[in-house]
Order: sequence, then structure tokens, then C-alpha cells
Amino acid sequence: MQIKIAPSILSADFSKMGEAIKRLNAAGADVIHCDVMDGSFVEPITFGGQMVKNIRPLTKLPLDCHLMIEHPKTQIKFFAEAGADIITVHYEACAKISPTYLRETLELIKFYGVKCGAVVNPDTDVSKIFDVFDICDMVLIMSVFPGYGGQKFIPTALDQLKKARAHAFKIGRGDMDIQVDGGVTEDNAAQIKAAGANVIVAGSTVFKSEDMARTIATLRS
Ligand code: DX5
Ligand code: ZN
Repeated sequence: MQIKIAPSILSADFSKMGEAIKRLNAAGADVIHCDVMDGSFVEPITFGGQMVKNIRPLTKLPLDCHLMIEHPKTQIKFFAEAGADIITVHYEACAKISPTYLRETLELIKFYGVKCGAVVNPDTDVSKIFDVFDICDMVLIMSVFPGYGGQKFIPTALDQLKKARAHAFKIGRGDMDIQVDGGVTEDNAAQIKAAGANVIVAGSTVFKSEDMARTIATLRS
């Protein structure tokens, strides 16, 4: 299974975002993880489609947009047209609207020709999204409560990853991308990968590193 490292630009200096993207290109990142926060689903506000549009010409790497927002369906068009390669939406934001809203949103993402994924918070059992695994290109298991970088990894995410990988195998998609997000360090990456994650988001670990390329290689190996 190919391991992909997805540094989160949430930990970059937003006044130097172009420079951060170029550093990630040079350091061997596999994916660029864009944390979109709306000040409602989570407390902070980060950025919207305009940021994705502006960084799009600076990298060939896939732009992975993690939407931590209410009513995600209303924003899909903007992120798709901005050049997102994959868009992930939270089960929790969708379930409070209607039981079909998550699948409808994933279908809308696919309609734009963009890869899609469903996300669960640490206190949402991953079995809640088993019924949309068939349409997902990736599923994202949160290992911190969304909103802030630099939090501590919540160990129950390991069980969630194991369950997600087992279910992927069960439906004949054993090689499906399973992403983990939050609190990943050089010390816990091995057990996270052993639990079934193959797309590893890392914000502070990568951006605080004095040697980004070495840190990305260590997380991957
Ligand atoms: C949290 C975000 C994460 C965050 C990860 O709400 O979704 O992507 O940037 O940051 P670290 O790796 O520092 O926990
Ligand atoms: Zn994220």
C-alpha cells in the first residue's frame, strides 16, 4: 500500500503561503492538505476557495480540501472550480441536515469530476459512514477534534482506522485510501500506518521541522 504524506497548510504562515507551497514541493510532499474552517462547524475561520485557486498554479501535487464547514453542498462548486483534486466533508455536518445529505454531497463532488471523501470526528463511530464507502475515493478518520493544529493524537483513532480498513476489505476495496488527521508525529506514525492509514496528514510536525524533507521521509518510511 502506497503511503502518502499530506502536510497541512494550516500550520503555514498565511502571509507566506506561496513560499510554503514551494517548500512542500521541494521537500517531497505527496499531497497538500487544505483545512477549510467556517467559524461555525469549528470555531476558527481559515480560508475558502480563493486560497485554493491561488495556490493551484504553484504545485502539481493533489490539493486535498478538508471542509470543516456547515452546509458543505453550497461550497463544492467553488472548490471544484478552484482546482481541488479531492474534497472531503464531515458526516457530522451532513447528518444534522438530512440522512441523505452526505451521499448527495459526495455525488455532487463526483459530478464536478473531483475525488470525494467522508470524514468522521473522534467521537463518531466510523460505521456511520460504511454506507457511503462505495462512493468514496478516500475516508478520513479524525484523530483530534477538528479546529486547531498542534493537538495530541487521540488513541481511539487507531481502532477507527482498523475498522475502516477491515470494512474496505470487506467490500472488495482493500486498497482504498484511508486518511488520518491530527496529532501525527514521527513517534506515532508507525502504529498509525499499522492500524490501516495510508494517507497521513501532518501539520505542526512538518512545519515545525528544521528539515522538512527528512521529516516527510521519516513519516513515510
Ligand atoms: C485539524 C485539522 C488538521 C490539522 C492537523 O482541525 O483538520 O488537518 O491541521 O494539524 P496537526 O498535524 O498539527 O495536528
Ligand atoms: Zn485537516
